[in-house]
Amino acid sequence: MTTTTKVPDSPPAERQKVTLPGLLEMKRLGQPITMITAYDYPSACVVEEAGVDVVLVGDSAAMTVLGYDSTVPITTDEMVMLASAARRGLKTPFLIGDMPFGSYQGSDEQAIDNATRFIKEAGCDAVKVEGAGTTLSRVKAIVESGIPVMGHVGLTPQSATALGGYKAQGRTAEKALSIADDALALQKAGCFSIVFEAVPAAVTDEIIPMIDVPVIGIGAGPSTDGQVLVFHDLLGIYDGHSPRFAKQYCKVREAMIEGVEEYINDVRSCSFPKQEHCYSIDPDELDEFRKEIEERKKE
Ligand code: KIV
Repeated sequence: MTTTTKVPDSPPAERQKVTLPGLLEMKRLGQPITMITAYDYPSACVVEEAGVDVVLVGDSAAMTVLGYDSTVPITTDEMVMLASAARRGLKTPFLIGDMPFGSYQGSDEQAIDNATRFIKEAGCDAVKVEGAGTTLSRVKAIVESGIPVMGHVGLTPQSATALGGYKAQGRTAEKALSIADDALALQKAGCFSIVFEAVPAAVTDEIIPMIDVPVIGIGAGPSTDGQVLVFHDLLGIYDGHSPRFAKQYCKVREAMIEGVEEYINDVRSCSFPKQEHCYSIDPDELDEFRKEIEERKKE
């Protein structure tokens, strides 16, 4: 007779916390970096479980979560509150807080103070700022204060009005060159990584070999070191305009509406709640309770 010894299933390998050196190593090894936005505890829990590398609490929350028609109105208080909630749902991804419009443009001191709030109050690992120009001085100041900074070039939604709307950038030789210059300047100022948004893929292809830090693309083609998408676009939750680059992987909004409609119908047709949704009470206690109620009615 042969006996088989059951080998206990080994526990799933613990995912390691993603660190800044880890992201640089991923670039060096050519391992694509996955990044996604999250804005609260449930969305953070979802992206944590799915195994994403980097989470951005993007100021896109102004539109996707708070219902504004641009990213401009969201405040630092609101962003820090959302980032704190996302932090509570995350263990392994690297967490970046997006500094909103007006939180760093004023001065280096203002930029350091607000960046510090993302780290101390919300538990972020780094912050993100948009553009170059005066932003370069802010990047240097924040980095010198000890906080890692991600840059963002191409379509920078905080200045969409000045850029002529939400459209692709770098579509002339001159504009493509200025994206290359901005990216190089941000790298020199100390950015540990840079987002390229809505840039022609062929322009990205030319710039990537000049950049040493990880470049994360959104609508910037396949040659970047990683990709980022907005949570609500990817899952089909947001019903506003979706840009060409926002690939939708499922239709969560439809599923949510269907669920809520079913609930409304159940309540209106008195088919919810059923026995299994109700709590019970010991029959003797119920008798006693009923007697007491009857007594009270007589008083
Ligand atoms: O705010 C945001 O979600 C962003 C990403 C699109 C990069 O900046």
